[in-house]
Amino acid sequence: MLKAVSIVIPPDKSISHRAVMLASISEGTTCIKNLLMAEDIKCTIEAFRAMGVEIRGKGEEVIVRGVGMAGLKKPARQIYLGNSGTTMRILPGILAGQDFEVVLTGDKSLSGRPMQRIVKPLKEMGAKIKGQISAKQLDKSTMLICQVVEGKKLKDKEDIYPPLKIKGGKLKAIKYKSKITSAQVKSCILLAGLYADGVTSVSEPEKSRDHTERMLKQFGCKVKGEGCKISFKGPVKLKSPCAIEIPGDISSAAFFIAAGCILPDIKVTIKNVGINPTRTGILDILKKMGANLAILTRLDLPDCEPSGHIVIKSSKLKGITISPKEVVRAIDEIPVIMVAACFAKGRTIIRGIEELRVKETDRIKSMVTNLRKIGADIKVEVAQVEGECIVINGGKLLHGARVSSFGDHRTAMSMLVAGLLTKGKVIVTSLGCINKSFPDFVKQLDTLTMLKCQVVTN
Ligand code: S3P
Repeated sequence: MLKAVSIVIPPDKSISHRAVMLASISEGTTCIKNLLMAEDIKCTIEAFRAMGVEIRGKGEEVIVRGVGMAGLKKPARQIYLGNSGTTMRILPGILAGQDFEVVLTGDKSLSGRPMQRIVKPLKEMGAKIKGQISAKQLDKSTMLICQVVEGKKLKDKEDIYPPLKIKGGKLKAIKYKSKITSAQVKSCILLAGLYADGVTSVSEPEKSRDHTERMLKQFGCKVKGEGCKISFKGPVKLKSPCAIEIPGDISSAAFFIAAGCILPDIKVTIKNVGINPTRTGILDILKKMGANLAILTRLDLPDCEPSGHIVIKSSKLKGITISPKEVVRAIDEIPVIMVAACFAKGRTIIRGIEELRVKETDRIKSMVTNLRKIGADIKVEVAQVEGECIVINGGKLLHGARVSSFGDHRTAMSMLVAGLLTKGKVIVTSLGCINKSFPDFVKQLDTLTMLKCQVVTN
């Protein structure tokens, strides 16, 4: 007999950021249905409020009164973005097109995240941006920002870090070939392109999540996509589609999808999950590992975000090799995939993982350290051509231990999932970071822990 559990997941974080941003600079009022009310999105909302946008309501329905492309006002003070890397990397695209100067700051982790990837293209488009060249948090009152001299060439391995001082102005369109696959970089350039004269295009090595392109279309922008290249002609005036509905976050569902696979005798149903093909790498990877999962009741309208119900049953997972291409479509889910691999039979190898080093924390370090602490056989190997890969020999009996979140929400939640099947308790310290994306996580996880009935070793 399978025990049936139903899990409620929060709205999609990536789509929520974009909804607030595009609604704010469009003409007309937008009703955003099912907006994520977690720390990161609150930072995006507060940023636009600070620039004069009226945003009212909570979660189920948020009303944004768009001010139009040129309607944002210079904020009275610096804008604090907390831990939100997506806001720090995408918002500058919009700010680059404004005729005022803004300073964006963040917490300790955000102040250590590389920004040259967006600073470089925005400067090519004509924006003036300064940041720090060393990753350290500055005391707000003594903030020294202008350490990067205009035109200074960064040395190898040097980067630019927040705080960022952005002075917008007249932009020119560029054709940008990004060396990394990143939706944040792509989105930032596309948003700046709305303000530029001529055709802006961005191409990347693999196709990253395409929420910005889809939503731009909903706001009336004629975006063209060919493979890994996106382009449109600017300047563009966005028009509100009146309403936008946000599906559940597959990156949050991922913890329960993995848990459903590794727990015995269970059937987990997760309703209304976003299943945009650029995000469903987790489903394909787990299916390849032998997961018993299905997507039911699909809803798929052109240019909107597809969604569906996911049902997962206890599975016998086996180790596989995960390619860099597969990692791109599951970039935020790799930590919980590492956990699933620990409970799979045989060896799992994950290649193309370097971007994990620059997430909210270095997720290779956080997960390898933590999983080793609970007895997993996991290591990082370096291949000459392909760079680093993670090697996990699954099926070891895991035990309880005190581990750290490393201040990273996905590390914290992944380790709590691992704790569902360890002999003895896994205690994760500094759990507050979970509020960034999934404030209700522990409550939802409790529905599974109440069912915990045996220890599984393979
Ligand atoms: C995001 C893109 C990804 C992802 C992040 C959210 C987005 O980052 O890891 O959590 O909303 O655009 P990269 O663009 O750095 O790959």
